[in-house]
Amino acid sequence: MHDPLRATPWTAVREGGGQSTLYQTLAEELDALLSGEADPIANAANAAAAIFHSLPELNWAGFYFLRGRELVLGPFQGKPACVRIPLGKGVCGTAAAVRRSVLVPDVLAFPGHIACDAASRSELVVPLLTEAGSSAAGLTEAGVLGVLDLDSPLPGRFDAADQAGCEAIAAMLVRHLVPR
Ligand code: SME
Repeated sequence: MHDPLRATPWTAVREGGGQSTLYQTLAEELDALLSGEADPIANAANAAAAIFHSLPELNWAGFYFLRGRELVLGPFQGKPACVRIPLGKGVCGTAAAVRRSVLVPDVLAFPGHIACDAASRSELVVPLLTEAGSSAAGLTEAGVLGVLDLDSPLPGRFDAADQAGCEAIAAMLVRHLVPR
């Protein structure tokens, strides 16, 4: 746990060693960064910043959290974004509704894509899936806390390795993002 009176000891994860090493290192460093803090907003904010500054070629990285039947914008890095997305709409609403990641190589070819930043060309949305206990406690609907959304100005920026890496990060992040 880092000293809360000192600056956050984040150093961008270096590339090299391949995608799985990059994501494993990012997951470990993020877990360590967040483990000393229980506030979900603080942790989501630091997670968005760490991801945005660690993964190359992103123009947006952040969170939407499920509130009733819609996703509401959470902490992020990038340009201001649309605030509310109905469940089932857009890439984010689709990922939350089906409770699975949605990888979009070309956002222009995704029916219903919601363009927040006109520069975005590809997108990866990973649901934040809670355990049954959290859902039973009324914190979420259907075990979905929200989504992690990554946008890139490059077409085809994300592949299966990015999806697997972000799913592992999302699974780790959930326990830092549920109110305790
Ligand atoms: N493109 C997303 C909307 C969120 S922004 O990309 C930040 C979507 O279609 O759901």
